[in-house]
Amino acid sequence: MRFGLVFATAMLCSSACTEDPSGSMPETTVQFQRASSDLVSHGKRVADVLGCTDCHGADLAGRDWSEPGFGRLWTANLTRIVPRYTDEQLENVIRSGARPDRELWGMPSHLFTHLTPDDMSALIAYMRSVPASGVVHPDPVFEEGARREITAGIFTSSATQVRNEGSSWPTDAGEPYALGRYIVRATCAECHGISLRGEPPNSDVSPPPDLRMVAGYELEQFRRLLQTGIAVGNRDVGLMSRVAQRRFVNLTDSEIDAVHRYLQRVAQLDP
Ligand code: HEC
Ligand code: HEC
Repeated sequence: MRFGLVFATAMLCSSACTEDPSGSMPETTVQFQRASSDLVSHGKRVADVLGCTDCHGADLAGRDWSEPGFGRLWTANLTRIVPRYTDEQLENVIRSGARPDRELWGMPSHLFTHLTPDDMSALIAYMRSVPASGVVHPDPVFEEGARREITAGIFTSSATQVRNEGSSWPTDAGEPYALGRYIVRATCAECHGISLRGEPPNSDVSPPPDLRMVAGYELEQFRRLLQTGIAVGNRDVGLMSRVAQRRFVNLTDSEIDAVHRYLQRVAQLDP
């Protein structure tokens, strides 16, 4: 995934997002399906779906996202960093977008603020199970490109994203749709926005569309998109196809159905 694109897709919450004043979870425990009874395997599946392994690498040893003229940025080597934290500290870093000494950049913590304690414990158990490899990577250094985006407010720290969007949710469609909403908030919202409105057409890339367009997707077509990356009409849809192949292929059938049901309902309600 290209460095610049990730930041370009980070969007501020529009008025269509709903604020949850209590910051609390939906009533029943809605979370990723426990497809494996083993906590570490469950944590690995959740990490794959959430993109932790995509950004930090399958070995969690971190990857170089630096771009000349923009800046130096590595995704952290989690195998070296995680042992330095207690579970509580680690959870706090992931949810807040800040470590004890500084704010993070490029880590989408605003998507993880509402993960349930169980999903968080599974992620942590998985991270702790991965053998240490490689070295600790350097802190970010911003060059001209990044500084310009920071000044323009396009590129913000992970902690700022948490402050701006950490308590927002996409449309509440009620209890029967809560699982789909939970998954969508932690995944699709990264690019399609927490309001799910997508992005207006822009110059060089195909922007993520308003997810209310899923109203036109039959369940079978939707499953095919998320499991293989092939969109209706046998189209490859670029970044969306890649993210499906690398991440959403790990969703269970019932999770995909829940996402489809929820998005169809949002399209009906359309707030
Ligand atoms: C879009 C890419 C991306 C995704 C997805 C992502 N991360 Fe990160 N993460 C980063 C980057 C970049 C950094 C380094 C930020 C910095 O150094 O300022 C980071 C830093 C971290 C840190 C802080 C390490 C330290 O130095 O203290 C932790 C912990 C972490 N990520 C865990 C996770 C977990 C767990 C997930 C999945 C739930 C995840 N990340 C998903 C990009 C990502
Ligand atoms: C990493 C960014 C990213 C994430 C995460 C993401 N999408 Fe997308 N999505 C895109 C982009 C970019 C497009 C536009 C692709 C194009 O037209 O080339 C898109 C297009 C789509 C389309 C339209 C396909 C078509 O028929 O043209 C659907 C449907 C869709 N996404 C659903 C989802 C769902 C559901 C999720 C969450 C499970 C999700 N996306 C997560 C980036 C993303």
